[in-house]
Amino acid sequence: MDRIIVEGGHQLNGQVTISGAKNAILPVLAATLLTGGKNEIQNVPGVRDVKTMVNLVRELGGRVDHFEADRLVLDSGGINNPVAPYDLVSTMRASCMVLGPLLARLGEAKVSLPGGCAIGARPIDLHIKGLEALGADIQLEKGYVHGVAKKLKGAHHLFESVTVTGTMNVLMAAAMAEGETVLENAAKEPEVEFLADVLNQCGAKIEGAGTDKIIIEGVTSLKPIHCRILPDRIEAATYMIAGAITDGDVEVLDCVPAHLEAVIQKLREAGVGLKENETSIRVRGNGELRPVHIRTHPYPGFATDVQAQFMTLMTLAKGQSVISETVFENRFMHVAELRRMGADIHIEGHTAIVSGVEQLSGAPVMATDLRASACLVLAGLVAERDTVVSRVYHIDRGYEDMEKKLSQLGAAIRRVR
Ligand code: EPU
Repeated sequence: MDRIIVEGGHQLNGQVTISGAKNAILPVLAATLLTGGKNEIQNVPGVRDVKTMVNLVRELGGRVDHFEADRLVLDSGGINNPVAPYDLVSTMRASCMVLGPLLARLGEAKVSLPGGCAIGARPIDLHIKGLEALGADIQLEKGYVHGVAKKLKGAHHLFESVTVTGTMNVLMAAAMAEGETVLENAAKEPEVEFLADVLNQCGAKIEGAGTDKIIIEGVTSLKPIHCRILPDRIEAATYMIAGAITDGDVEVLDCVPAHLEAVIQKLREAGVGLKENETSIRVRGNGELRPVHIRTHPYPGFATDVQAQFMTLMTLAKGQSVISETVFENRFMHVAELRRMGADIHIEGHTAIVSGVEQLSGAPVMATDLRASACLVLAGLVAERDTVVSRVYHIDRGYEDMEKKLSQLGAAIRRVR
């Protein structure tokens, strides 16, 4: 199994270009199931979750005409299989986003129920309730969610709590349901707004995406998708923290600063120098980090997907930071690994109290999920001697060329097989 070895102590300087967002392309790939022709997607990030989703669309009857560099052409004319099998869904929870589009396209969907995962139980009950509101009849059978719907019908639906992929799943189904759907307490993440924009370009009638109330007037057909995936705000935040933690000078290119406001604000509070331009952000360390308190929240709050990386930064601040995780119940798996590197972190329920230390020390550590693995690499950049991160397949799920991008900034990082 691959491992990543990071030799600490190298300041990062230079520019890094951000890839397309994993969490934006996955719903777009699910949305190809709604259209009937050649969908063309650009700025495709080279990450494993994208390959998994493309394989799933193939399994359902799609055909890949071109998949090279950052361009993907996917023909969804032949979608005919409503079954998303366990072996694909179990490796990537986002696969459950095919549920809504399959119901809309084929009138039936049989999608394996994803199991628990490293960051929490992560049920999909809110997806199911939303689709039932549109008239789908959904049963749980032998580990599968089996839904049928002769014709989905628009409805007024309130999400009990905010769910990102749940909102997208129901939004995609409603785009082709009969009549009007109103979704309340919808997720406001930029990726939801992006999906709605992409669908609108195909002929959908969606208003309000990016707010907590989305109004969808169903249409009977959608033209194929032609889009360029928006930049990955979580990858951008990770490189911003990499610049800050090494006290370096890093310019993050091809990002949307407006999507990173919560992170920018917290980095400023920590004393990091930041300059925002239209599509880039320059980050400069100023020699000393101040402690900062963080509470994760749905967008526009501080993203749970940046919590682990920010915690790594706070392990070296001068004082005590309090980091509360409110989105997932078990997203502190990285804490035990950071402690092995000398971090002083104490957990009380959903809160981590981080007391800054002078120096982290390199150690063998194990990645437990995607963002936890990024936080361990960040720790390795500044730790004394070598840090060996194992289970790096987690990184490959969501970060394109991480070692290459960090090396170009001056990090001493390599992968061993
Ligand atoms: N939840 C339920 N029932 C549901 C759905 C969600 O109880 O039916 C709970 C979850 O267990 C969680 C909370 O609601 O406690 C929020 O979960 P949400 O549904 O918003 O998460 P998600 O849609 O499964 C997406 C991202 C995650 C990101 C979260 C939160 C994708 C593909 N995944 O997951 O990204 O952490 O939103 O912002 O968009 C990552 O990229 O590393 C990652 C985990």
